[in-house]
Amino acid sequence: MSSGLGAERGADESRHGMWSGRWLFVMAAAGSAVGLGNIWKFPYMAGENGGGAFVVVYLLCVALVGVPIMMAEVLLGREGRLSPINTMRALTLTSRASSAWVLIGWMGVLAGFLILSYYAVIAGWALKYIVSLADGTFNGANGEFANRAFNDFLANPGEMILWQTVFMCLTVYIVAKGVTGGLEKAIRWFMPLLLVLLVVLLGYGINSGGFEQGVDFMFRFDWDALGVDGVLVAMGQAFFTLSLGMGAIMAYGAYVPSNVSITTSVVTIAVLDTVVAIVAGLAIFPIVFANGLEPDQGPGLMFVTLPLAFGQMPLGALFGALFFVLVSFAAITSAISLTEPALAFLVEEYNAKRSRVAISLGVICWVLGLGSVFSFNLLADVHVVGSMTFFDFVDYVSQNLMLPLGGLAIALFAGFVLPKANVRAQLGLKGGLPEFLWNTLVRFVSPLAVLTIFAYTIYKNIG
Ligand code: TRP
Repeated sequence: MSSGLGAERGADESRHGMWSGRWLFVMAAAGSAVGLGNIWKFPYMAGENGGGAFVVVYLLCVALVGVPIMMAEVLLGREGRLSPINTMRALTLTSRASSAWVLIGWMGVLAGFLILSYYAVIAGWALKYIVSLADGTFNGANGEFANRAFNDFLANPGEMILWQTVFMCLTVYIVAKGVTGGLEKAIRWFMPLLLVLLVVLLGYGINSGGFEQGVDFMFRFDWDALGVDGVLVAMGQAFFTLSLGMGAIMAYGAYVPSNVSITTSVVTIAVLDTVVAIVAGLAIFPIVFANGLEPDQGPGLMFVTLPLAFGQMPLGALFGALFFVLVSFAAITSAISLTEPALAFLVEEYNAKRSRVAISLGVICWVLGLGSVFSFNLLADVHVVGSMTFFDFVDYVSQNLMLPLGGLAIALFAGFVLPKANVRAQLGLKGGLPEFLWNTLVRFVSPLAVLTIFAYTIYKNIG
């Protein structure tokens, strides 16, 4: 693309490549954001925490906490143009700040490994369910059958490893090919397909006969079912769903051309992510209600309730399989962003070939993921801390401790440490209300919100 720009290539381009324009960045970051968090977690969390009331709080968290922190990540990434670790090294130098801030980068790399290790296992379940739905396993099935099918699968480590391996190989294959040849190529295909599939499934949900009940459930305000816990769950979910706190978006930010508006892009990404979560809910709940099932099935909603429901419906095998294709696409575009901070760092440090680094990282994550696989069968009774299995522990530490801590540090660094002039140039701020809003959100509102979730989760778990 930029063959004629050789002379201009300098500090303002990343050595790993650049997004080919604003939309590619928006789609890549939306691809990272839209994942299992939107399609698997959001609907069941809304289901368990009071439907509409949860949705309102979640929207507020996305707008007031998520958007400022995502802007901070993109702006730091673009300012440094390197992997998060090296970006933070460079920025602490220019800001004459303590090198302790570089821990943001290191912790992000570690969190990325941990999250990807179990993310690949769950995404593997989705791959497996494409096949199970397509081959008619669930046609006419009853609840007992659907439950048993899922439990039998969880009890079988060999099969789980098979699908985890398939997912990891796909991820490694894509990231090995680089920003333009790998990431962008996958994103150009997967994101439009994902949106088409989502609309098709929404249509299916609308025609299922339970649409009104589904809408009523998602948008009815049941403040009692929400409670303090629900508010905190909503905030944690807003964080996870936007891929914040571990440098994934910072790594992607390093590849954003300088003429792209960070604010507009980030708002678009947050809106896309939210729309997908809500539409996923509007596609899933009508199918649940139309079949007389309960919406608050927790994590089993996607792997037990939905296959059961699809098994009862006309063309259910086809649409059920399509549903799990959608979930798998969403998971892959998220997984590739989880590897980018570590991948870019190792390439920078050792001048290593990207494909080699990708394979090594894939192997490490795969091995780590075995711990999560076995948490559902062989090691189900081994408790790492309290009553947590290895899977629960990895999930808990990465999501509830590392991401909020990382997000907090990122907001504080962008809000207080990085020189004002750099921030204003990156965000195009010229004083007035926009600058006041930015400062208030990034310096006070989001750090305080994150500190609150953080303190509460720790308190709850110690208590
Ligand atoms: N946002 C993804 C989801 O909703 C998960 C994810 C991808 C993620 N990259 C991340 C979460 C980085 C935290 C940090 O499923």
